[in-house]
Amino acid sequence: MPLLIKNGRIITATDDYHADIYCQDECITQVEASIDASTLPKDTEVIDASGKYVFPGFIDPHVHIHLPFMGSNAIDDHESASKAALAGGTTTLIEMICPGPNDEPMTAFHEWNNMAAQLSAVDYTFHMAVVRFDELARQQLTQIVNEHGIASFKVFLAYKGALNLNDADLFDLLAMAKDLGVITTAHCENADAIDAMQSKLLAQGKTGPEWHEPSRPVCIEAEGVNHLAAFAELTGAHVYAVHTSCAAAVQAAVAAQLRGVNIWVEAVAPHLTLDETYAQKPSFDGAKYVMSPPLREKSNQQTLWGALNSGVISTIGTDHAPFNFIGQKDMGKDAFTKIPNGIPSVQERIDLIHTFGVLTSKISLNTMVKACSTKAAQLFGLYPRKGAIRVGADADLVVYDPKHKHTPGVDTSYSRVDYNAFDDFELTGRASIVTVRGQIQARDGEFVGTVGRGKLLKREPNHY
Ligand code: URP
Ligand code: ZN
Ligand code: ZN
Repeated sequence: MPLLIKNGRIITATDDYHADIYCQDECITQVEASIDASTLPKDTEVIDASGKYVFPGFIDPHVHIHLPFMGSNAIDDHESASKAALAGGTTTLIEMICPGPNDEPMTAFHEWNNMAAQLSAVDYTFHMAVVRFDELARQQLTQIVNEHGIASFKVFLAYKGALNLNDADLFDLLAMAKDLGVITTAHCENADAIDAMQSKLLAQGKTGPEWHEPSRPVCIEAEGVNHLAAFAELTGAHVYAVHTSCAAAVQAAVAAQLRGVNIWVEAVAPHLTLDETYAQKPSFDGAKYVMSPPLREKSNQQTLWGALNSGVISTIGTDHAPFNFIGQKDMGKDAFTKIPNGIPSVQERIDLIHTFGVLTSKISLNTMVKACSTKAAQLFGLYPRKGAIRVGADADLVVYDPKHKHTPGVDTSYSRVDYNAFDDFELTGRASIVTVRGQIQARDGEFVGTVGRGKLLKREPNHY
């Protein structure tokens, strides 16, 4: 059905103006100061966006949905995660395909893609994690890029003995990524250093969730970013440091950027809004706040916001990784090293950034759109189909009420996780209408769309 959004304040990464938007056949077909509804087809749905913002659909460049990890499986599926995304204004998800070290990349690609194709209510693509790099993997990864349109890799410098890639393979993979024109995203923490620190702390009887941060302090993450940057410098590959949590890691990235390394930086909603004191909560409650890199000392947030403002950090994702408190996080009751890592926030991201970034004047509305949508589209080969409000772009739009107040909670969350990490926050702002390719998929925090409507977004490599 055609859609007319009238009287909204359109906010993109660069512009801020009042206009009407007309959408037909899944795309934006007109953006004009005033569009007369009486000239449009009779079945056009008209949305009055007076007093509201109209954003391009938000893109989350870092989510985990199907995730076999740390002896468990993340508890969302593509239905619950994509409903949560939509309720919060996110219309495109980029999920990490994380196979085990013995799995074939092509098998993993089909496994993840089949699940998403059946249940996703948002459009989606993947970063292909490389956890082995032999000849078979080299061939299959090339096919995954060239035939299936997955134009980004993921590597883990952390998680020793599980997802971690060794340096020889990292070098060869980045050399191949450079040839393919593919950007490589990376979890930057030194696996061996963490392993040693974990053993030391456990041997001292330091077993609670509050010891997770000390087991992987900021110097370990900064070393990881520097390590990735050095390999990018040697190979000429383009790289992207995911979920950067602290000033030391940002500084390592800036040092690399200043010497000409093509490195981009991502922040995620939990690090911007929560700090290490949450993981120190008593009675094992801190386990809800165990993620990697860990929540940090609060002053790091100032650097993250400042780096977003200056453009040193390009994107804001979530690293949505949902594990229940009961039955999953509590596997680590006797040792923090067994707590499945992750803090889900795919539904809350935009309202968190609006409340704690925009309304406190740390970043502008344009920067919020840039970091939460447009820049991810540009870096990952989705632009201008996604991340833009312009004629010809997909009609992925968010009509946003900047005044609505709400407190997140398990009762209003579509994620299946049994706790909400943000339930002591009052958030200001909420997506009133969310469209994916011209169809309304969410209204006022409720999913009203079609499960399985999401499409795989094939992408061309764009990092030569
Ligand atoms: O704690 C996290 N981040 N869990 C998900 C896996 C990862 O490292 O991204
Ligand atoms: Zn990670
Ligand atoms: Zn992650």
